[in-house]
Amino acid sequence: MSEKIYVFDTTLRDGEQVPGCQLNLDEKMMIAKELDKLGVDIIEAGFPVSSPGDFKSVEAISKVVENATVCGLTRAVKNDIEVAADALKLARRPRIHTGIGSSDIHIQHKFNSNRDEILQRGVDAVKYARTFVEDVEFYAEDAGRADLEFLARLTEAVIKAGATVVNLPDTTGYLLPNQMYDRVDYLMNNVPNVDKAILSMHNHNDLGMATANTIAGVRAGARQVEVTINGIGERAGNTSLEEIVMTLKVHKDLGFYTDINTQMLSPLSHLVAKTMRMPVQANKAIVGRNAFAHSSGIHQDGFLKHSQNYEIMTPQEVGINKSDIVLTARSGRHAIKHRLSLLGFTIGKEKLDQTYDQFLELADQIKEVNDKDLVTLMKQMAEAEA
Ligand code: KIV
Ligand code: ZN
Repeated sequence: MSEKIYVFDTTLRDGEQVPGCQLNLDEKMMIAKELDKLGVDIIEAGFPVSSPGDFKSVEAISKVVENATVCGLTRAVKNDIEVAADALKLARRPRIHTGIGSSDIHIQHKFNSNRDEILQRGVDAVKYARTFVEDVEFYAEDAGRADLEFLARLTEAVIKAGATVVNLPDTTGYLLPNQMYDRVDYLMNNVPNVDKAILSMHNHNDLGMATANTIAGVRAGARQVEVTINGIGERAGNTSLEEIVMTLKVHKDLGFYTDINTQMLSPLSHLVAKTMRMPVQANKAIVGRNAFAHSSGIHQDGFLKHSQNYEIMTPQEVGINKSDIVLTARSGRHAIKHRLSLLGFTIGKEKLDQTYDQFLELADQIKEVNDKDLVTLMKQMAEAEA
């Protein structure tokens, strides 16, 4: 029996913080509705105390979201919690996400405090948030660099205070996957009440490890993943939703599933990229323009013989019509013949050899040969023969 992994989307909070990505209220509501249709379990809609605009959007999103839990971020500060509770009051399923720094670096250099005081502030924040809503998530900011014994003590204390989820962010994207696995494994085995809450992964991508670290955390016992569409987020970004969802789907053997409608992944990626004015790199896993494009002759030949030679998932599964064979000077005869047949030209071996020579000359000049170029080439060859 496979186990459900809860998908917590923070595109509208951690993602929207990115310079240049700010959205207006209508855009946020549109994306929230799409995320709800996509099947995410939790939508982090914003940080209500941070600005009147953020308050309004959390309030508006709370009204329109039908299925997902709507969540608002706070610091471990009473006023933040009150404001978040107010913004969430019309949500069908409200969650307050409160927390505080947990690494010694944060404790000393951000809070000028000590571990005991921080633990007490965390506990007080969770207890206070529980007076407004039943679902309270606690984040131990910079958990990736926190002292592990202290992190275990803090986790135990906030669960005792009523936290339903404990988020263990690798805020600075510092950890390696095996270290993440060991940390979560340690908490699973050393926090006596860990079964009373869900542990959550919230990883940043500073070393390009966010997806690997999140999967490592899930394998060690975390059951919620905090992600954004296209991996958008602070600095090098957050963990990308599409990468986690498809990793769990492709690797069914891991024994996990999500409720995401994967056919919406590519359309939603486009929508977010366009609305947030943040283009997706061509080679981005799952949703990049080249994610299902084959360009070398060896790959094209293998792909045309059997798509699974070079694809571990189908483009249709993620909402893309079909794979792409890009015709360049690296393409081989098989790909040219295949494309010509799609364009209505059936040619034998000798003609293919001639066409291929002409094709290579053209491709060296113009780099990418499209269907129109190919038809023109065929016409020119026919005219030359006549
Ligand atoms: O990266 C982080 O630590 C965060 C927390 C505020 C959850 O975004
Ligand atoms: Zn974050």
